[in-house]
Amino acid sequence: MNFYVMTLFPEMIEQGLHTSITGRALDSGIITLNAVNIRDYTEDKHRHVDDYPYGGGAGMVMQPQPVYDCYADITKAMAKKPRVIYMTPQGKVFSQAIAEELSKEENLIFLCGHYEGIDERVLEEIVTDNLSIGDYVLTGGELPAMVMIDSISRLVPGVLNNETSAQYESFQDGLLEYPQYTRPVEFHGKKVPEVLMSGHHANIERWRREKSLERTYLRRPELLKEAALDKKDRQFLEKLYWDQEKNV
Ligand code: ADE
Repeated sequence: MNFYVMTLFPEMIEQGLHTSITGRALDSGIITLNAVNIRDYTEDKHRHVDDYPYGGGAGMVMQPQPVYDCYADITKAMAKKPRVIYMTPQGKVFSQAIAEELSKEENLIFLCGHYEGIDERVLEEIVTDNLSIGDYVLTGGELPAMVMIDSISRLVPGVLNNETSAQYESFQDGLLEYPQYTRPVEFHGKKVPEVLMSGHHANIERWRREKSLERTYLRRPELLKEAALDKKDRQFLEKLYWDQEKNV
């Protein structure tokens, strides 16, 4: 998987992602990262990449020419035009399902805006996907791009050394992850749940499933609508619901 990031702050992207698990994946070559400085493509003698908005208003707008030339340079040797993802709070909200879909691509380009945005004409020409990381406004697209690259990378085979850990966690089957415990057996008077030390795998699996269901029900009930639930899961949730009703 090859990531390209079009940005005015390439060092921010490079530093952020050359750390921890993505850093290791980059060092091993399983993923590659090219943070390309849009400013390197300016034709302005002062190296400006922005200008005043037509029609007036606050702030500056990134000009189309440096953005387009940067894109053309990145894609010139590619046989197939890759998806170009524009980081914008006006986009569809990024999710695990989108991360999974994007993790199957060979090349991905992330376009990071700054100031009041980018001239609409170049966006119309090169952008294939508009994505947001949530309903709040950031100063630029770099943090969203890093968030997306992080979550996509960990789905690329070989990036996580424990192959199963990408599977068995929050959003597996659309549910939140069950709680985890490690040593010591007792901490501040609280014991690790007995079942986890029983060695009884079926009971442990059932307990974890029920904790996932309970957590999702209590913390993110809206996720249950889309979750993959069997009959046993539904019975457990029904009991949880009626137990709660009794207590109010
Ligand atoms: N740029 C500014 N805010 C953003 C957000 N919430 N998501 C993606 N890109 C952004």
